[in-house]
Amino acid sequence: MSFPKNFLWGGAIAAHQAEGAYLEDGKGRATCDVIHGGKERIAEILNTSSIRANIESSQGYFPEHIAIDFYHRYKEDIALFAEMGFKVFRTSICWARIFPNGDDAQPNEAGLRFYDNLFDECKKHGIEPLVTLSHWEMPITLTQKYNGWAGRELVPLFERYARTVFTRYKGKVKYWLTFNEINMTLHLPFLGGGVLIDRPEHKEQLSLQACHHMLLASASAVKACHEILPDAKIGCMVAALCAYPYTCRPEDVLEQKKLERMNYYLTDVQARGYYPAFAEKYFERKGIRIETQAGDKALLAGGTVDFVSFSYYSSSAVSTDPAVNGKKTSGNIFGGVQNPHLKSSEWGWQIDPAGLRIVLNYLYERYQKPLFIVENGLGAKDIPSGGAVNDDYRIEYLREHIKTMKDAIEEDGVELWGYTTWGCIDIISASTGEMSKRYGFIYVDRDDAGNGTLARSRKKSFDWYRRVIASNGEDL
Ligand code: BG6
Repeated sequence: MSFPKNFLWGGAIAAHQAEGAYLEDGKGRATCDVIHGGKERIAEILNTSSIRANIESSQGYFPEHIAIDFYHRYKEDIALFAEMGFKVFRTSICWARIFPNGDDAQPNEAGLRFYDNLFDECKKHGIEPLVTLSHWEMPITLTQKYNGWAGRELVPLFERYARTVFTRYKGKVKYWLTFNEINMTLHLPFLGGGVLIDRPEHKEQLSLQACHHMLLASASAVKACHEILPDAKIGCMVAALCAYPYTCRPEDVLEQKKLERMNYYLTDVQARGYYPAFAEKYFERKGIRIETQAGDKALLAGGTVDFVSFSYYSSSAVSTDPAVNGKKTSGNIFGGVQNPHLKSSEWGWQIDPAGLRIVLNYLYERYQKPLFIVENGLGAKDIPSGGAVNDDYRIEYLREHIKTMKDAIEEDGVELWGYTTWGCIDIISASTGEMSKRYGFIYVDRDDAGNGTLARSRKKSFDWYRRVIASNGEDL
């Protein structure tokens, strides 16, 4: 058998894209609650005055307020995951359910109880929860008071939040992640770090500073986890970049290397405990001054992760040639140059199963730590016909990616702990806020404007994934 016997098959979601129950049971308003849905979403996230206006007045449709109502329907959903044979289920805790304002004197008991119930439900079905502490959301008050992670004040607040949930869910959660796609904070500071940029020329300075604070918080959480939960494992999470040099011109190859290493410098710190030399040189060259305090170096060195997790959806190419640079592709936020050898999804993300094997090898060589694929999947428009969704395109996408995972384990010797497909049940898309960008094995009756019964139904891929898990990846 190529997949290890205890391989963790499952699926993933994030609290804000699924839970809804916007202000229920004492939850505070969060950063994700002030972003509208639609194709313009990324532009809105990047536009500080729009976000400020949304914080002031809740006009318009905010998809996360109801999402797929997982908060009330989790029992039904977990039962469906169990029917597919999930061994693991990745979700996140919404910080604003636990500390509604981020700096409250006491945690919110009703919020803590919700996750108690959720994790108990997973256990009941023999599913191991894999929990992200922070997946693109935080109490909005932290943005208003401290400008999100740009403020160092968040480091102790996050540590307190992490300690609270580690202590509370002792014995219930064995696998943890600190920040979702920490590198995305560099591209989308508000989404990743709750940071609003008032002047474009401050974007890089502020987001790199915010990332420093996130690294400190990540290291504090790792230390706290090791102390409170000695048997648990805690990892970091990065949006993997697979970008090929567009040609074999040395300039293209060098450009690709530069892009790649900056994509991973945060993971380098989380995995190795110190900033790599190229990052420090980069800050110097750009005139960026990261404010630090005595003790930061020791904290980073003492808070390295147990494993490295990542998301992988698509690949792109890199070129220094302006003529080629015009041919852009989209992709998981960072996009790149279009690769003529690949096909794209309906959202323009280039489909590249071999890229997953390349990433697995690259990360394993770079960090020599166990890996976990915590997001992978195809966002597609599913059109139900006669009540059925025949999503052969999704099956094809996942099958080809699983095959390359298998090769990475079998032929390359990569240590891979598990695989959670993204959006195992249809949820709100993070980049567009659409419901119609679906990833799930389970169809949810809801549209982009918020209409629909929210009823759940099995797609064709549901039974296919059930067989994949039952055969430990042999029956593809
Ligand atoms: C990852 C995020 O970047 O990609 C998820 O961690 C997100 O939150 C996923 O949903 C897929 O992106 P999208 O925009 O298709 O939802």
